[in-house]
Formats: sequence, structure tokens, C-alpha cells
Amino acid sequence: MEKKWWHGKAAYQIYPKSFCDSNGDGIGDLQGICGKLDYLKDLGIDLVWISPIYQSPFVDQGYDISDYYALDKAFGTMEDMDRLLAEAKKRDIRIIMDLVVNHCSDQHEWFKKAIEDPYGPYGKYFYILEGRDGKVPCNWRSYFGGSVWDKLPGHDNLYYLHMFAKEQPDLNWENPLLREEIYRMIRWWLEKGVAGFRLDAIINIKKDLRFKDFPADREDGMCSCSQMLKYAKGVHEFLQEMKEKAFKPYGAFTIGELFDFRKEELKRYIGTEGCFESIFDFAPHLLGGSGKGWYDRKKVTPDQYRDAVFASKAFSQDTGMMANIIENHDEPRGVSHYLPEGEVTEESKKMLGGLMMMAVGLPFLYQGQEIGMTNQTFTDICQVEDISTLDEYQVALDHGLSREEALKAVARMSRDNARTPMQWDDSPHAGFTAGKPWLKENENYREVNVKEQEGREDSVLSFYRAMLKLRKSVEYGEAIVYGKQIPWMEKEKEFMAFYRKGEKRQLLVLANFRKEERKVQVKEEIRRIVADNCRKVSAWGMEEPKEWKEGLLLKGYQFLVLDVTP
Ligand code: GLC
Ligand code: CA
Repeated sequence: MEKKWWHGKAAYQIYPKSFCDSNGDGIGDLQGICGKLDYLKDLGIDLVWISPIYQSPFVDQGYDISDYYALDKAFGTMEDMDRLLAEAKKRDIRIIMDLVVNHCSDQHEWFKKAIEDPYGPYGKYFYILEGRDGKVPCNWRSYFGGSVWDKLPGHDNLYYLHMFAKEQPDLNWENPLLREEIYRMIRWWLEKGVAGFRLDAIINIKKDLRFKDFPADREDGMCSCSQMLKYAKGVHEFLQEMKEKAFKPYGAFTIGELFDFRKEELKRYIGTEGCFESIFDFAPHLLGGSGKGWYDRKKVTPDQYRDAVFASKAFSQDTGMMANIIENHDEPRGVSHYLPEGEVTEESKKMLGGLMMMAVGLPFLYQGQEIGMTNQTFTDICQVEDISTLDEYQVALDHGLSREEALKAVARMSRDNARTPMQWDDSPHAGFTAGKPWLKENENYREVNVKEQEGREDSVLSFYRAMLKLRKSVEYGEAIVYGKQIPWMEKEKEFMAFYRKGEKRQLLVLANFRKEERKVQVKEEIRRIVADNCRKVSAWGMEEPKEWKEGLLLKGYQFLVLDVTP
């Protein structure tokens, strides 16, 4: 694998609306982020992705952009942005933006002009088709429910395509003029000092232009629009062009959000010839999924989790570096999702985080993960803001679930779980705002917050800090960043263990993924305990205790990193 400047770094996602509110309007903002840069630096973060802050009607929380060159007033001014970039630079932190270019907002001037004149130049910025026998052009279902087609306002038999909400019309990448507009906009932000982008839903920019029906996969007679991705060929040509014309001249860092890509094409996405620097590793997040909807999702078991991570690393680690996550703004909180109910403790939270940080890949934390934030408790559907959750709730009701069952089913998966305010301290609203937060905070903020964990050596936060420090250490950095990941005892139930074999150092990572203890016989001589989630961080670095010679006794959810260099 070709070495890159970012391989040894650590990254962090900020969901700006919920991170820190500086002016008491209940919405997080750029000044709020600015005030927390030292916190991020202390945590060991080098790269920060901020979810969309552009001007937006917020139908999909900013993923519907009405002006790519303007910031939404809720987040602050362009001066605030310049100050944030300058302050971040002082601390050697790079800021990357969200690039949402599969679609824009129906309030964008391009779309307004397309409505005025569908056959004019801006009509060609979108996919506008005539209906078929007075009906929609084909039977694709959008990711957020309902047809991907909606009537172009004011035109009887014209429909426009939207893979997401109807307020998010898809941009027509086949049109070279549209592509040039996008590249110009990217260069404009890079000129400003942004270090790169996370590319939203990017695989969707190439469509199967036949726009034909596929067999229905639900009672509604439609099929998921992701079906068409199987037949949409040539996305790489767009992506390579974007790289050449926009990213490469600036040495930008790019990370793609890709769900449905062909595995054999990995080389075209990452590594030497890839069109991105990295992509997120979503392998564990796909587990338990169901074509029927969230209500039908299965709980993920520890063995499934391990197998998914191992398979993903086996197929990717020689090609390039993917980014490891346990959660993001679209997923439930990792600790609530991957740990068995009733077994979510500080130890198990640290174990899950430790596994993520020790696996090959760029650790990409999501705000609040570092203190072990958990899912929200929803008691009524009116507490939900997220468009996708509301759709899934309806899907569950339509399937015959009671309101109570439907709420329970979607609550586990709701994207709002991760969007509750960041828990800074135990003051009202978790110290996120002096006003009323736009989304209710999680009640557990009195126990789970940054302030409480900051000075405590055995806290989740201290653990994350120590693990990220290890990644940069002279002693173990090379093994953690570049060491080959090799599974160990992968058939053992509720157990996840692997080697990281570096040039100088060899590490063995052990995780007892259950609450009962377990005895393990390590073959190698243990030189040192590099990390241990059951001990405070100042006690790490010990020699192997004598009693381990007889076999090592792992406590429930214990996580160990051992130096077993021959
Ligand atoms: C991506 C975003 C998600 C958004 C969708 C449409 O998946 O992460 O939040 O709803 O794209 O832009
Ligand atoms: Ca604010």
C-alpha cells in the first residue's frame, strides 16, 4: 500500500446542529465548534468532517442544499467559517466539508429555473422525463419512501427524479455543464482553505438511464432505487474527472460514502489509482438489514460483527485504507446497536471503541462516541424529526404493527439517536445550549458527559484519548497503522482477536465479547500490556502478570492489546 500523510491520523465527525450552540438559539453553530477545537486537539483529532452547513431549507437536515456558496444563517457567517479554518490550522487540524452533489434542494435556483423552462438549459441539470401512460416513468422507490418521481410543478406530464426526499431533486451528471459547475464550486471551497470533502451518497450519481421497471420488492409495487445501481455503469469516469479537475490540484482529502459498490472494483475507489483517498467501511452496519424495512431488522450478534470486520479487512487491507466507524449521523449509537441490551457498561463501550481503533483503518469518531453516548429513549413519534424515521414508522404501520410496536421498532434504528445534543456537562440541556435545543437531549447526560469524564482516568474519554495516542506513538504507531491484521481463533464464540504485525512490533488484540469471563492461552511471550479497558490508563504498559503463565483470564468485556513481538 502506498503511504499517505493521513494514514496515521485520527478523524472526527461533527454534526453541527447538535455539537455546540454559542448563541442560545438551540442550534449548534460554527462559533460553537471553534470553542471546542482545543477539546478535539486534546482528544487526538487531526481531521474534522463537518456535516452540511450550507444554506438549506433543512428538509433533510442540511442534505438539501439551496446554495452551495452560502452558509446557512443558523450556523453563522462566512467570517465565522474563515475564523474556524484559521483557528483549526493553528492547531494543525484540517477541516473537511460535506459534498452533497447527487442532489440539491428544490429551493435551489437551478431547480426553480428548471420548473420555469424544463426544456431550457437548467432543465438539463435534472432528470426530467415524461410520464408513461399518465403515470410515473418507472417503479423505483426512493430511499425515503414513495416513488422517486414527482410531478414537476406546473407541468402536467413531466416528472423529475429524486432518489431521496421529493425536496431533493437529483442532479444530472450526464450533463457536462452541470459537472463543471460542481467542480468550480469544489475548487472555490478548496481555495478558501478547506482540506477536502466527504462525498455524500456518491455512488448514486450514475443512473441506469433506461429508467425501466424492476420486479417489485414490497406490496407497494415498487422496487428499491438501489436496484438500478447494479446496471448503472461508468460512475468512475465521473469520479476520475472530478478528481483530476477539482481535488488533485489541491491535494484534497476525500472520503466517499458508498454502500452499493461492486467489491471487485475496490481498486477504482481507494489506493493508488482510486478516485478517493478513502471510503467508510460500512460492513458491520449492513448486518441485520432487511429489504422490508427497519421494523424487520435483526439485532447484530458479536460473532456477526467480528466476521464482517474480518471479511472486510481481508479484502481491503492490501489495496488501501478504509475508515472505521461504529456510528455516524445516519446510524444508531454504536454501543446501543452492537452491544447486547443490558450489557452496555463503560468497559463494553471501551471494548467496542478499542476494536475499532485497533483494526486496520483510519479511526473516524462521531461526536459523543468518545464519551459513550447511547441511543435516545423515544416515547412518542412526535419526538422524531428525521424524515427517514418517519417514513420507516409508516412502513411499519402499513405492515400491520401497532403504533407502539412501530415506534419501538424504528426507535432502535432512528437517525435521531445520534443527532441528540452533544453532552458536555450536567447543566441543563447537557451544556449544549443556553436556550432550548432543537432536538431533545438524552436524559442520561447527567451521568454521561465530557466534564465528568475529563479528569477520570478510567473513563471512556480517557480510554479514547490514550488509544489515539498509542496510534501516534513511536513504539507502536507503525504496527497500529500499517501492521497486517491477521485473525486469531476466529471460530471462538463471542470472542474477537487479531494480530497486528508491524515491521518492528507485533501486537495481539483480544476482546471478550460477552459478560462471562474466559480463559485464553496466548502462544507467544507477552512483553507488555499495551492497553487494557479494565484498568485506568496510567496503569497501562505493565509487564505480563505471573499468574497469566497458566492462561490468561479475561473478565467480561475485557479488551487487551498485548505486545507479543518475537
Ligand atoms: C447520506 C447522508 C444522509 C442523507 C442522504 C441524502 O446518506 O449521510 O444523512 O440523508 O445522504 O443526502
Ligand atoms: Ca446557535
